[in-house]
Amino acid sequence: MLQIAIVNGPNLNLLGTREPHIYGSQRFEDHLLQLKGRFPLAEIHCYQSNVEGELINYLHSSMGKVHGIILNAGAYTHTSIALADAVSAIGIPVVEVHISNVLAREEYRKTSFIAAKCVGSISGLGMDGYALAIQYFIDNANKTV
Ligand code: DQA
Repeated sequence: MLQIAIVNGPNLNLLGTREPHIYGSQRFEDHLLQLKGRFPLAEIHCYQSNVEGELINYLHSSMGKVHGIILNAGAYTHTSIALADAVSAIGIPVVEVHISNVLAREEYRKTSFIAAKCVGSISGLGMDGYALAIQYFIDNANKTV
């Protein structure tokens, strides 16, 4: 079965109550249940941490275990060379997802250290970005497995 990991970075544990005008009002736990129902042929693992090193450790621990990773690194997207290096190091295809349209927000959100290390990026499509990334991995399973 296709193994996919969703990795959410800092403050994404607060989805549902965090700035709902930007991120919507759905809790990620509830969205994850929907994703699992929608994609029964994929096993979807999920990890969230507010700690940069823990995110890096989780990426390392995914080696040999998952076929694709969906990474919303939150604000570490814009700051973390270490996380970008981890994406390069693990050799697993990673799709970068942002719920909001980072290019339409503050200047400092327009830089992503991880984008160039990823197979692609989805930004601004709300929670749908996660489903679109899963669909990408399903459609390209022959390339990633
Ligand atoms: C975010 C965008 C980031 O700029 C921000 O720091 C987040 C969430 C998004 O999903 O839109 O925490 O990654």
